[in-house]
Amino acid sequence: MKYKELGKTGEKISVIGLGAWQAGLKSWGKDYTLEDVLKALETGIEMGINLIDTAEIYGNGRSESVIGSLVAEYRDRVFIATKVAGYNATPRGVWKAAERSRRRLKVEVIDLYQVHWPPSIYTSIPKLAREMERLVDKGVIRYIGLSNFGLKNMMRFREALRRHDIVSNQLQYNLLYRVVEKEIYPYMMSEKIELIAWSPIAKGALAGKTKADNIARRMDAVFDRARRANNLLNLLREIAEKHRCKMHQVALAWLISKGAIPIPGVKRPSQAKENAEAANITLTKTEIEQLDKASEKFTEGSLGELMPRIIPNWLQKIAIILMGGV
Ligand SMILES: NC(=O)c1ccc[n+]([C@@H]2O[C@H](COP(=O)([O-])OP(=O)(O)OC[C@H]3O[C@@H](n4cnc5c(N)ncnc54)[C@H](OP(=O)(O)O)[C@@H]3O)[C@@H](O)[C@H]2O)c1
Repeated sequence: MKYKELGKTGEKISVIGLGAWQAGLKSWGKDYTLEDVLKALETGIEMGINLIDTAEIYGNGRSESVIGSLVAEYRDRVFIATKVAGYNATPRGVWKAAERSRRRLKVEVIDLYQVHWPPSIYTSIPKLAREMERLVDKGVIRYIGLSNFGLKNMMRFREALRRHDIVSNQLQYNLLYRVVEKEIYPYMMSEKIELIAWSPIAKGALAGKTKADNIARRMDAVFDRARRANNLLNLLREIAEKHRCKMHQVALAWLISKGAIPIPGVKRPSQAKENAEAANITLTKTEIEQLDKASEKFTEGSLGELMPRIIPNWLQKIAIILMGGV
């Protein structure tokens, strides 16, 4: 495995992480079991991956509990990133949410605590930012991260901080969705704020999957974009053949070449193994340029803020609770 520094923290993080939304066993179909996903996470860790990404809403806490069940054995080998849901991201709400996450994860301190999406407009972003700092001061969390924050909101959050900067912003980034490259990513790079790339294989579309056979895929239009990307998919296959690997491994290597940390979601040990191996693939300059060109049209569009900020927190919360998490 290859490692890099996480932002400006001095923490040594694997260049690829493990996405644990699938460990919530809720939105990703019924073609795998708890045992599969546990083994997948263990395989990834055994292969040197030390970043695990989860969230309180994945399976309504189940994903965090699954990780918690591995903590006794692996605590010193993993850097755990979880997320507070946007509707709980209020000055008071973050304390309670962090406590629940700590309990499920069975950890004293949460390594990276990310605000999953910007809170509704009725919550003050500067006040939230300062409360997150207090969570660091009190030893509840080690680092502050954001997720799905556009440039303006990310800057407002940062400006309010006095003692601890954010270390990362987790955004959708893959060959079928490159909107981050236009504005926010160049800024993050210049400030050494890490980009953690969610849906790095476009929910499986970049692994050649075509059936929107679960809720997670149906919820995200990016999965369908593969239909408009035959040239790109053919190029991925061609490059994969040269490297004797699989197309999604090339898609992951491309993200690593851009300096982002992909966190592909895994259900099975074989997936975790393949994804970890992608860290060893070095694409040539020409291959990167070819992939850039073939996916150029996907740089267009605006950065989706995932949840409209005009929906009050309580309404967002009820909707997600009624769904039983995502
Ligand atoms: N911050 C946010 O708002 C946000 C949003 C979404 C996701 N995330 C995080 O990012 C992680 C990754 O995103 P994602 O799960 O949405 O999408 P993804 O990683 O692009 O796709 C995951 C799917 O790709 C397939 N896959 C993974 N490895 C594979 C392999 N080696 N070979 C073949 N297929 C493979 C699996 O499909 P099958 O199901 O067909 O096996 C898997 O369920 C999540 O787990 C979560 O931690 C964060």
